[in-house]
Amino acid sequence: MRGPFFWTIVDTANIPSLPKTPLTSLDGLDLLASAVIILDADSHIKFANAAAENLLESSFKVLAGQKLTELFLNGGDLVNVFHQALAHEFADKRLDLVLERAGRESLQVHVVVNALDDPEMPVLIELRENVQQLKLDREERMFDQSQANKELIRNLAHEIKNPLGGIRGAAQLLELELPDRQLKELREYTQVIIKEADRLQTLVDRLLAPHRRPHIVGDVNIHEVLERVRSLIVAEFPNGLSIKRDYDLSVPEFRGDKEQLIQAVLNITHNAAQALIERIEAGDAQLTFITRVARQVTLAKIRYRLALDLHIIDNGPGIPPEIHDRIFYPLVSGRDGGSGLGLTLAQTFVQQHQGVIECESRPGYTDFRILIPLP
Ligand SMILES: Nc1ncnc2c1ncn2[C@@H]1O[C@H](COP(=O)(O)OP(=O)(O)OP(=O)(O)O)[C@@H](O)[C@H]1O
Ligand SMILES: [Mg+2]
Repeated sequence: MRGPFFWTIVDTANIPSLPKTPLTSLDGLDLLASAVIILDADSHIKFANAAAENLLESSFKVLAGQKLTELFLNGGDLVNVFHQALAHEFADKRLDLVLERAGRESLQVHVVVNALDDPEMPVLIELRENVQQLKLDREERMFDQSQANKELIRNLAHEIKNPLGGIRGAAQLLELELPDRQLKELREYTQVIIKEADRLQTLVDRLLAPHRRPHIVGDVNIHEVLERVRSLIVAEFPNGLSIKRDYDLSVPEFRGDKEQLIQAVLNITHNAAQALIERIEAGDAQLTFITRVARQVTLAKIRYRLALDLHIIDNGPGIPPEIHDRIFYPLVSGRDGGSGLGLTLAQTFVQQHQGVIECESRPGYTDFRILIPLP
């Protein structure tokens, strides 16, 4: 029985390292995105394509002749299937494995083991990194991390808030005590303390805002939320910015806190408008609101049948690459005078609706996507 691959194994006795297979046909395997390993009957590696070298982080020279059991710390399952393939118990078999390696990250892979009918190379193994699993893992890590961050910020904000009042009060008292002849000169200093204390107070208040306000739940119509945000943005940027609306009016109402959602969408839209400043001046700035219903989505580890799928898209310069991975972290800003809280707050509000915010950005196209479960 031959495996489901496109090359034919013909005689290549004149190529010492790869007997029985023409170099050119195996070369073709280098074009594949999947890692391909061919083994002999003793499970020694006879061939590994470029993707396999990449995945295993070793060159073929290093891999050649190694046994399957030596590649992974927990290769037991793989070796069992290898023996089944050798015994021609199947033509090909698929399995998902987490393969552990000494001193390296383990590999989450979808494995296809193929029985070939070449006695020199009886088994071909195809490995593909399990992207879906990787994505879920990454989302899970990010979710845990953002929860930990929020906790940290909240505690820190409380710690700052308490002495802040004291500092401001003391500076005011000090100002009253200043001798008249030095008042003008020294007042400058006390005013700096008071002003900076006030600035910090505003920051701390914003940090604590989502934890303060009670969550007021009612029926939310997402299009009302978007229209409110639109009118606020239009009032602020009356010229040069067009807002396109592409609504799916069949999106049902859902239980949620309308004010929070307005704040979340406004923060995102406001960022977009700020990023569009140059285009607003040029008169071709474009914002797009899209609503859809998504089916069968997994949000924060839970699967939902239906979800609101909302996109806020702008044609601005894109998120600066150096902060792209951190924009949802508090105090991360790419803007002069930005406090870096807008997206943190937006994320907190959306998470309070069991939703997530995702972001895709490149120059000329930035898409913030909000997913929230629907009834
Ligand atoms: N649509 C966008 N296009 C380009 N960059 C963006 C966009 N949205 C966010 N950013 C970048 O992400 C950064 C973080 O945004 P965030 O709203 O959290 O903070 P901020 O806008 O800097 O400050 P704040 O909203 O607290 O006043 C922004 O400073 C900006 O650099
Ligand atoms: Mg902002």
